[in-house]
Amino acid sequence: MKAPQLNELIRSRRSVFPAQFIPGKPVDKEIIEQVITNATWAPNHGQAEPWQFTVFSGKGLVKLSTFQSELYKQKAGEKFNPIKFEKLKNNPLLASHVIAIGMRRTTTKNIPEIEDIEAVACAVQNIYLTVSAYGLGGYWTTGGVTYYDEAKSFFGLNGPDKLLGFFYIGHVGIQPGAAKRSPLHEKVNWVDV
Ligand SMILES: Cc1cc2nc3c(=O)[nH]c(=O)nc-3n(C[C@H](O)[C@H](O)[C@H](O)COP(=O)(O)O)c2cc1C
Repeated sequence: MKAPQLNELIRSRRSVFPAQFIPGKPVDKEIIEQVITNATWAPNHGQAEPWQFTVFSGKGLVKLSTFQSELYKQKAGEKFNPIKFEKLKNNPLLASHVIAIGMRRTTTKNIPEIEDIEAVACAVQNIYLTVSAYGLGGYWTTGGVTYYDEAKSFFGLNGPDKLLGFFYIGHVGIQPGAAKRSPLHEKVNWVDV
């Protein structure tokens, strides 16, 4: 791949949400394996590879749907929002695959927690770009049960590990709208003299 193609891939990548997927159309498992393999090629401090992925598809999506909607209902109390509940229940069923994104805390080396989290975020960008390169849609959500301690064990995480959200993947039915980014001068200080 030449630099202009990479620029195009990075700049045309968009979040595609479950309501924009073609429901009931699965993505080949081989592609999902490529997506996750690329995730594992992300930079990570100390070769710790601090990621843990749990991939839901088929009937697994029903398990995820039930788990996250019921846990939300249990925990929400007076703040219970029926629209949120329905989204947590329905969204997994609109996807082909949902990848739960876990950070497995590195305990054998002196690596600050934030660097394990940063490495996983790099892995998620690889997921975003690979999904986009295959012409598929997807997005990272940190909503729902992401930060509930009670959710962790369902995704094979415990102790100092952290659930960092979910990556939804599907075939694109409705193209996402145009996006914009602010100009460089608002975000960059050049120090060259
Ligand atoms: C750490 C992180 C968490 C996110 N969580 C959510 C979320 O909970 N719900 C959501 O609709 N989008 C979520 N997104 C996706 C953003 O909304 C999306 O990236 C942003 O709108 C920019 O659009 P783009 O990805 O098409 O460039 C998240 C993105 C990141 C990086």
